[in-house]
Amino acid sequence: MICYACLWLLVLALLSFNSRAEAVRPPTRFGDTLFQIFQHERCLNCHQFNSRRSNGKSYTSHRNRYLCENCHRPSLTGLPEGGWIAPNARMDYTGLNARETCELTKRNVGSGDKNALLHEHMLHDVRIRWALESGMTPGGRFPAVPGGYWTWKQAVEDWAKSGMPCD
Ligand code: HEC
Ligand code: HEC
Repeated sequence: MICYACLWLLVLALLSFNSRAEAVRPPTRFGDTLFQIFQHERCLNCHQFNSRRSNGKSYTSHRNRYLCENCHRPSLTGLPEGGWIAPNARMDYTGLNARETCELTKRNVGSGDKNALLHEHMLHDVRIRWALESGMTPGGRFPAVPGGYWTWKQAVEDWAKSGMPCD
């Protein structure tokens, strides 16, 4: 004969075990998934564009190219007008480790609530979106970041839930 009360107790025990396992889950770190995506060429090629230290494209193939959107036209990139721009050289994170990249990113993201600003930027910036889903250039389509926007968003939200720690 089946002991229903025993089964019920077993279910309760399993449930409480499960919620305890949830509670002790280690925090998501910047280095877990996000750092790897930051290292992708689609992100890095633009972030080192103006960097002499990294021999960025403004010092090589793009030495005499100024009016970016004459070639990187909005109809080609899918970005709004004025959207195709490269960051200042201080946003070049080439060669930095995960913690340093994370810290540099927070330093550069603007003043105010750093985590909120960064969270917003990561989810809604049009250039990030381009790197994750398009990769289209005047020289043809380069591979977008594997996993696309969904993987990225998931990683950003996991990190945000952990309080966006740099180490
Ligand atoms: C005369 C056309 C032309 C102009 C103007 C131009 N580009 Fe480019 N750009 C290209 C071509 C072609 C490629 C692909 C070949 C390469 O990577 O150099 C490219 C590639 C790039 C890449 C690399 C993309 C990747 O993910 O690998 C970046 C970043 C970039 N351009 C930024 C800029 C910026 C910023 C400007 C304005 C300062 C600019 N470009 C102006 C033609 C141009
Ligand atoms: C077409 C060039 C371009 C591409 C591609 C690009 N970025 Fe950026 N990124 C910029 C510019 C320009 C800024 C500064 C924007 C501003 O100040 O509003 C920036 C700012 C940022 C910031 C916030 C400022 C900071 O450094 O703290 C982060 C984080 C960032 N980018 C990450 C990425 C990641 C990750 C990718 C790839 C998935 C990427 N970017 C692809 C141009 C680019």
